[in-house]
Amino acid sequence: MSFDLVFFGGTGDLTWRKLMPALFQAFRHGKLPANGRILAVARDEMTDEAYREWLKARFREVDGSKRPSDEEFESFAALLHYRRMDLSQPEHYQRLKDWLAERAADTVVLYLATSPHLFTQICQQLGSAGLNHERVRVVLEKPLGHDLASAQEINQVVRSVFKEEQAFRIDHYLGKPSVQNLMALRFGNALFEPLWRRESIANIQITLAERLGVGTRGGFYDGTGALRDMIQNHALQLLTMIAMEPPSSNDADAIRDEKLKVLRSLKPFTAESVARDVVRGQYRAGAIEGQAVPGYLDEAKVPADSHCETFVALRTEVQNWRWAGVPFYLRTGKRLAERDAQIVINFRPVPHPIFPGTNQANRLVIKLQPEDGLELQLLAAKGGAHGEALTPVSLDLDFDKAFAANRVGAYERLLLDAIAGRLNLFVRSDEQEQAWRWVEPVLDAWAQDDAGPRPYTAGSWGPAAASALVARDGFAWGEEE
Ligand code: BG6
Repeated sequence: MSFDLVFFGGTGDLTWRKLMPALFQAFRHGKLPANGRILAVARDEMTDEAYREWLKARFREVDGSKRPSDEEFESFAALLHYRRMDLSQPEHYQRLKDWLAERAADTVVLYLATSPHLFTQICQQLGSAGLNHERVRVVLEKPLGHDLASAQEINQVVRSVFKEEQAFRIDHYLGKPSVQNLMALRFGNALFEPLWRRESIANIQITLAERLGVGTRGGFYDGTGALRDMIQNHALQLLTMIAMEPPSSNDADAIRDEKLKVLRSLKPFTAESVARDVVRGQYRAGAIEGQAVPGYLDEAKVPADSHCETFVALRTEVQNWRWAGVPFYLRTGKRLAERDAQIVINFRPVPHPIFPGTNQANRLVIKLQPEDGLELQLLAAKGGAHGEALTPVSLDLDFDKAFAANRVGAYERLLLDAIAGRLNLFVRSDEQEQAWRWVEPVLDAWAQDDAGPRPYTAGSWGPAAASALVARDGFAWGEEE
């Protein structure tokens, strides 16, 4: 199968930091289909040779083990081409079309790695130039809109040019091996399914914690905030995979139909429930691993009076027979105590304890990063004296260790899937819009509330109100137990 992969925004950060290194890994692992070309387009005037040199220099900043040797780079670079393109000029799209037509590859993947405000313009121009024929796929990188109306506007234009099955909306969390393992855990094994419901589960906690601050992204981040940056997409996608009904097949639409049903079942927010069930925070100066770090308001390009949230914790419910009444707690933040993404399934305690002492309920911890694994916490008898308390023990699976040789990074996986036309790990427009519909009352309530986010110290687990949110139901976050 021959392919042409075109990166719009070919000299941008996303391209050189994430996409090119991921493609290089696919190439190194022998997974990139033979007979492919990678074409970068951007504003600057450059020859293929100059682009290759430029990228080679950028690769020096890439993580050690992922960096190509000179020989490896030479063979990878043979796939790379560059064309100057002004995205506002119709004739430049025509030139691109002619260039692609020279070869008529089986698949043409157009990856929009540009600023999102250009998406509609690029799609319209692609449509006018006839670059939307059936061999074309378009990949859209998040953020797709900043609220429901803007997401709908983008989707409307995308739909007017491409069929839904040609549109690949990226949520890079779906490409992580640990997230795919969630599907395997639930639907490749019979063990948990009978327990995966309100009768056995007390609450579910999804934590996406980062140690990093906003760094150089202050300008972008300040107009975005944690709710739009992490909850609307990554955290909600994880929630759908935890809560969805078993799909009838492993096909993209069978899965996406079930995920959409979960999003539609989420308890809608009102101004009152936002005040009660959503906590927003903003980091102040503190220390991360012993190093002093500045507060959010002192970060570059952040206005001194910003109300942008760098932390969100919220409580919701999935209103259906399986989950009625089970709290789902979602939490994300920058400059938190640890880099830790995990899902904790807290089971109900035994109905009638007969052992003295510990009566800790079982817990399944699905670790997404930095480790990728599963931990099942149980109680066991040590076999000592009569009447001794039970001891917590755990069954621990480390997938990184078990499957080290087969692991593929998120972008590598998603790029290979886009080339192969597999939509399973991409977000459908209705899912994405429903996620916006659900978060929007929170954005509206915050816009009306001058109190702004609650401060928290960098290196902590966020504002105390986030603990109170869970404690109110008689529960605690994993690290507090
Ligand atoms: C991105 C957000 O989507 O995800 C970033 O825009 C965030 O703010 C990143 O840091 C986290 O991704 P990961 O894969 O490092 O957990």
